[in-house]
Amino acid sequence: MSELIEVLTKDGSYSLRSVFFQENFHSLLGALEETKLKFTAPSDLQRFYGKSINVLDICFGLGYNSASLLNELINQKSYLNLYALEIDKKPLEYSLSNKSFLKLWAPKVKKIFESVYQKDYFEDNFFKCSLLWGDAREKINIIPSSIKFDLIYLDGFSPQKCPQLWTIEFLSKVKERLNSQGYLITYSSSAAVRNTLRNLGLEIFTIKPSSNNRTFWSQGTIAISKFDKNKLKPNINFEKLSLMEEEHLLTKASVPYRDQDLNSSKEDIINKRLNEQFFSNLVSTKKWREKWGMTKSSFKS
Ligand SMILES: C[S@@+](CC[C@H](N)C(=O)[O-])C[C@H]1O[C@@H](n2cnc3c(N)ncnc32)[C@H](O)[C@@H]1O
Repeated sequence: MSELIEVLTKDGSYSLRSVFFQENFHSLLGALEETKLKFTAPSDLQRFYGKSINVLDICFGLGYNSASLLNELINQKSYLNLYALEIDKKPLEYSLSNKSFLKLWAPKVKKIFESVYQKDYFEDNFFKCSLLWGDAREKINIIPSSIKFDLIYLDGFSPQKCPQLWTIEFLSKVKERLNSQGYLITYSSSAAVRNTLRNLGLEIFTIKPSSNNRTFWSQGTIAISKFDKNKLKPNINFEKLSLMEEEHLLTKASVPYRDQDLNSSKEDIINKRLNEQFFSNLVSTKKWREKWGMTKSSFKS
């Protein structure tokens, strides 16, 4: 599965490209920038200053999202219980051999990464980290059901390349693990993913594009079970969906990915969806794109 090619992104940070999935792990604009903008900043980590936090990182990869989280939590003396899911050990092996990647973080991050690579586990007075290797669709079941997460990062390859991790059935399992005020965060703004999350009863928000990059209309999605306006302060990184984004959810692009027994192949999931789209009465996504003057380059989900 894992033929990987090194990629130097525009912010000077390294990433990988998967030959098997035919996709890069990160945006070419910057692996580090992407992690900070789409995962770390919207997480509102200050809420956990000096407190404990449960986090699930789905698709650990090189470990950018977890490393950035650990770095912040080291500085603010939080207690962390981290679970990570990943099918392939090679990306972490690569991170551990890349000095430039390791230099981005506090030395403790390297210690934690070495330990989860060798023993699948790390523990000290502040942090407990478990890496569950294998298909996330199975391994998520190993996490004790009593653990509810304050943050879940979902960073799989795009729905078209790896639909297994964006289906109603998998997202429903993920949702079960989210605590009521927890954030499920993903870079994806796919209508199918957003619609599925909403139909599972979550309130969804769009991650705003950064002020220096307006090419994209959204940087991703945050889903929250019970958005309590009194408890959760307005976050400068996310907001309600715009009219354009709401209308996106009324198009054929919103037809969900399905994987009834959580063991279908990519091809089966894609073909089933194409068939459902063909027979659907929803408006065509092309019409929506035309209405909103959307070019292919401004459209990334
Ligand atoms: C976009 S990359 C993740 C990037 C990562 N978050 C990082 O910071 O480097 C997607 C990852 O999903 C993993 N993956 C693909 N299919 C998977 C599956 N069924 N279960 C678990 N991990 C999977 C790939 O091995 C790859 O590392």
